[in-house]
Amino acid sequence: MIKTSVKAYDVLKHKTDCLILFSPENKPAGLLKQIDSLLNGALTAAFKAKRFEGKLNQTFQQSVRGLMGADSIIVVGLGKSKDIKEEQIRQAAGTAAKSAESSRYQKMAFSLDSRDAGKPGKAKNSKSGHPVAGAIMEGAQLGLYHFDQYKSIDQDDPLSRIKEITLLAPGKPQVRAYQKGVDQAGKLCEAVIATRDLMHHPSNTATPTFLAKAAQSMARQHKITCKILEKKDMQKLKMGSLLGVAKGSHEPPKFIVLEYKGGKAKDPPVVIVGKGVTFDTGGISLKPGAGMDEMKFDMSGGAVTIGTLQAAASLKLKVNVVGIVPATENMPGGSAIKPGDILTASNGKTIEVLNTDAEGRLILADALVYAQRYKPRALIDLATLTGAVIMALGHQAAAAVGTDSKLIKKLSESGDTTGERLWELPLYEEFEKATKSDIADLKNIASKGVGAGTITGAAFLKPFTGDYPWVHLDIAGTAWTSNEKPYVPKGGSGYGVRLLIDYLKNLQS
Ligand code: BES
Ligand code: MN
Ligand code: ZN
Repeated sequence: MIKTSVKAYDVLKHKTDCLILFSPENKPAGLLKQIDSLLNGALTAAFKAKRFEGKLNQTFQQSVRGLMGADSIIVVGLGKSKDIKEEQIRQAAGTAAKSAESSRYQKMAFSLDSRDAGKPGKAKNSKSGHPVAGAIMEGAQLGLYHFDQYKSIDQDDPLSRIKEITLLAPGKPQVRAYQKGVDQAGKLCEAVIATRDLMHHPSNTATPTFLAKAAQSMARQHKITCKILEKKDMQKLKMGSLLGVAKGSHEPPKFIVLEYKGGKAKDPPVVIVGKGVTFDTGGISLKPGAGMDEMKFDMSGGAVTIGTLQAAASLKLKVNVVGIVPATENMPGGSAIKPGDILTASNGKTIEVLNTDAEGRLILADALVYAQRYKPRALIDLATLTGAVIMALGHQAAAAVGTDSKLIKKLSESGDTTGERLWELPLYEEFEKATKSDIADLKNIASKGVGAGTITGAAFLKPFTGDYPWVHLDIAGTAWTSNEKPYVPKGGSGYGVRLLIDYLKNLQS
């Protein structure tokens, strides 16, 4: 972890390798104007030449050795003042942090002079501390994420990493609120980072057993309960759908159940269910070879579920939350299910498996049935379920399909706040009809010509959700990225942890 701290200190004299200043899309004012004159108008000149105009994520780097306490400064753009919200600050902080790191600096400080920063939305919950301080730390820590556990370190040229981030508060009175914001962001980022780590491990490390152990050790550290159902337990519960998928693999499946009780004992929990396919070969309906390595991320929903429970517990949210992760590989072994096979799920519904590559919905079916025993106030599942969602929404938003428009609205608001956006797709009756089988209750791929693969995937899940308010989030496009974003480096994003924590925070009180 990167060391973080808050100091009330003179920005001009603060000693650090690299000082970051934010600038909206206007000519230098306030503190920036002061710095501009120290630099003989270098910043004004950059504005004039359109080298730097304060556009979002634009940067201006300059050595200030001898002129200021810092060795160099990076001014990073926030865009138009009226558009500056927490998301713009997160992005700019991520951009600046990465830029400082690539210049091989190790210590950095952020200054957020209130006159230069615009007015981001007020914190809904003052317990979260200063929203801008939190947004800066989130952007920086998440932007600086690396997964190099499998790399040998070159002793002569070690990887250059930011080791320390200081936030400079405008004055003593602000330090407490800033510190609170930094602490909360730190806990949240730790959970997102743990989630990303789980995602990045290759499937020969991150087996269902590994996921179950990770959940157990997280639960021990955060004083939440963790129960692992083994294959024989799943057999007792008649989870034929999940067990059907697991049949093709030598790795034993695990069914992970995490319970965090931050609310009143009798309050019904929010239940989060995450797809935990630790590798998806497609099974007998084998996937093509190109890009198959990405299917190690097919447990993203499960990792996000574990990460969300971690964050909820470490932030001591006053809500009850349950996390459920059905974990298995999808392999084409000798005992694997074959197209045409019929499975019986734990609620007795029979499923004709027409494509073994539509395995996510098969394992979620039994997990959603299990979730009903908690009588959830909200049932949310996250799954890298369909490639089709990438056709619909690219990598910019998850698809939300469900039975409760209020729940979708709340989640969607949290999506806008956190930058982890979602977009609703309609669950028309026609799509539900398309999942009815000729010879069983359901079939795991919809009838030909229906289209809307993401919605028919969700429609298949609906019969397993009871009458509970339910929403399915298809995160196949957002769980990982091959084009990095300001605070999401290439690879696993951890999409969903920050979204769900914001949603859960809003449920408190
Ligand atoms: N894990 C995949 C979905 C996926 C595809 C995630 C691409 C990320 C990128 C899922 O299990 C799957 O294979 N879905 C099939 C469903 C189809 C057979 C109905 C798909 O999307 O092709
Ligand atoms: Mn698949
Ligand atoms: Zn899959």
